[in-house]
Amino acid sequence: MSENMHYRHHGPRIKHVVEEGAPYETITVDTLTPIIGAEIGGVDLANPTNRQMDEIHRALAEHCVIFFRDQHLSQDQHLDFGRKFGPLHLHPAAPHEPRHPELMIILADKDSPRANGEGWHSDVSCDEEPPLGSILYIKECPPRGGDTLFANMYAAYDALSDRMKTYLAGLRALHDGEANYRGTYSNFGVQDKPTYPNAVHPIIRTHPVTDKKALFVNKGFTRRILDIPADESAGMLAYLYEHAANPLFQCRFRWQANSVAFWDNRCVQHRAMWDYWPHRRYGNRVTVKGTRPV
Ligand code: SIN
Repeated sequence: MSENMHYRHHGPRIKHVVEEGAPYETITVDTLTPIIGAEIGGVDLANPTNRQMDEIHRALAEHCVIFFRDQHLSQDQHLDFGRKFGPLHLHPAAPHEPRHPELMIILADKDSPRANGEGWHSDVSCDEEPPLGSILYIKECPPRGGDTLFANMYAAYDALSDRMKTYLAGLRALHDGEANYRGTYSNFGVQDKPTYPNAVHPIIRTHPVTDKKALFVNKGFTRRILDIPADESAGMLAYLYEHAANPLFQCRFRWQANSVAFWDNRCVQHRAMWDYWPHRRYGNRVTVKGTRPV
């Protein structure tokens, strides 16, 4: 079978594989897949050392999403851990814990009309400066289900054909929060705002830390590609969403109570499984501010 036949029948070959660097010295790093995700051990997020923080930064850059088990964080400790990565982001719509606007509530139970993040998205990409990343601490889990899927958008970019990369280079897309947010949190008693953010971002962005290119369109927020006809935009976005959702780029995290997931929102999309109704899943998300995608 020729190389081309292989490509046509089996989809994109994965080119983005995490390269093993120098061994970690102050944390353990157990990779979930060769493409994305690692479980980090040997650290108490309530009290990490400076050296551990350096290695956590490195693990996030290498694996795109990192997981921690058996963490016991107060609300302030969760917020403090987030602040080690930069100023915290305020969500434009979602409910937050009393007195802590930066501590978003993630909750679904038997009375919920929906759960957070049920479709593929990167968090708040409708902001002019979308978040750097999100740190989700789940405190209560359903007996089964409630996993979160994560997908590596460097891998999605790398697997595009060279012709497609050339076509997309320089194109920009509109991201809009209106449809996502209006009325969405009324069951929490949240009043709608007069408007929600929208922003134009490049379809291919370069990560400010790793300098690698990532696909940056998502079904949750991206509405249309600018400067091309509407039907071409719709067709292209449909292709890119399907491409980005290829399981080859993904890992799936099975939560336990007191687990933490920290994803790099600049190169990862995620999707939460609401397969546990009528059970309850509850936690908090701290989101770190990002910069304008370039
Ligand atoms: C989110 O999109 O932040 C929610 C993810 C989850 O609940 O697993």
